[in-house]
Amino acid sequence: MRSVDKLRVSVTDRCNLRCMYCMPETGIALKPKNEILSFREIERAVRITARRGVTKVRLTGGEPLVRKGIERLIEALSSIEEINDLALTTNGILLKETARPLKQAGLDRVTISMDTLDPEKYRFITKRPGLEKVLSGIEAARNAGLEPVKINVVALRGINDDEAVAFAAWAAENDLEARFIELMPISRQPAACREAPGSPVLSDELKQAIEEKMGKLDPLVTSKSSPARVYALPRGSGKIGFISPISKPFCAGCTRLRLTADGKLRPCLASPEEIDLKGPMRSGAGDRTLLEIVDRAIEAKSHISGAMHFDRGNRTMCEIGG
Ligand code: 5AD
Ligand code: SF4
Repeated sequence: MRSVDKLRVSVTDRCNLRCMYCMPETGIALKPKNEILSFREIERAVRITARRGVTKVRLTGGEPLVRKGIERLIEALSSIEEINDLALTTNGILLKETARPLKQAGLDRVTISMDTLDPEKYRFITKRPGLEKVLSGIEAARNAGLEPVKINVVALRGINDDEAVAFAAWAAENDLEARFIELMPISRQPAACREAPGSPVLSDELKQAIEEKMGKLDPLVTSKSSPARVYALPRGSGKIGFISPISKPFCAGCTRLRLTADGKLRPCLASPEEIDLKGPMRSGAGDRTLLEIVDRAIEAKSHISGAMHFDRGNRTMCEIGG
C-alpha cells in the first residue's frame, strides 16, 4: 500500500477573492455552517491520520484566513507530536495583520497565491483590488519568520504568461521561491476558459523564457514526493519552481491526502472519489473505525497513477482546497 505523509485540510469554502479559474464572480453556494468541520473535528481527523503516517499538514480554503479563530486551530494542530511541518496556503490579503499571531500560534510557514505583479491584472484575475495588501502580507510573513515563503503563480494564457522573467527577477531580488503552476481544467471552472483561451501555458515555455534572459537554471534537489521542480536563480538566493500537472503529472509519487471543509477524505485532487469522515465522527464512531476509513482512503490512492483525469465531480477548486 502506498504510504501517505501529507494532509491538506480545507478549513472553509469561503473566500474574499474571486479568482477567474477558481470561483465564479457571484460566489458559490456555500455550505451551511454546521456542515463544516469544527476545529475539534479537524484536530481529531489530523490526529487519526497522524497515526497512519501524516507528518505534514497544510491548511487551505477557500481562503483559510477568513475562518474566525484560525489561530486556535493552529495552536491545537501544532501541539500534535507527529506533525513536524504545519503550513498554510493563503491569498495573502489578510496576512499583514495575521502573520505574527499565526507564527505565535505555531504555524511554520506560508505559501501565498499571487498570479501577477501588476495591480490592474491582479484586479482582472481576482475581481478585487488588493495587490498592495498581498505584497505587504508577504513582507509581514517574512518578518514574522513564516519561512520559507513560497509564491504560487497560476499561468494564464494571454494574461500573465509574459511575466515569467519579471517573477524570476522579483524572486531573486526578494530571496523568495516563486512557483509557476500549470492551469488544471476543472469541471465547474468559471471564467478562465473564456478569459484565458488557448492552450495551457506549459512550464517549459516559461522556463525557456527565463533561461533566455537569465542564463541556465540549476536544478535543486527536492523530496521525491514534491510536485515542484525547483531551480536556483543565477543571482541571489531566490528560486523558481514549476508545478506541472499537465506536462509532467506527478500522481505516481503523490503521498498526499485531502480533507474537504465538509469532512470528506479525498484520495486525489483530480478524482471525484470521496470518503466521508464527518458522518461517522458525528455519529459517535471510535478511533478504530476512523482509522479504518483513513486506511480505505490510502488504499484508494494505490490505484492512481499516470495522467490526471480532472474529473472532479461537482466541486470547484475553492471547495477542495487546491
Ligand atoms: N489550476 C491550477 N492551480 C489552481 N489553483 C486554484 N485553482 C487552480 C487551477 N484550476 C491554485 C491556487 C493556489 C493553489 C492552492 O492552487 O492559485 O495557489
Ligand atoms: Fe480564493 Fe484561492 Fe480560489 Fe482565488 S484561488 S478564489 S484566492 S480560494
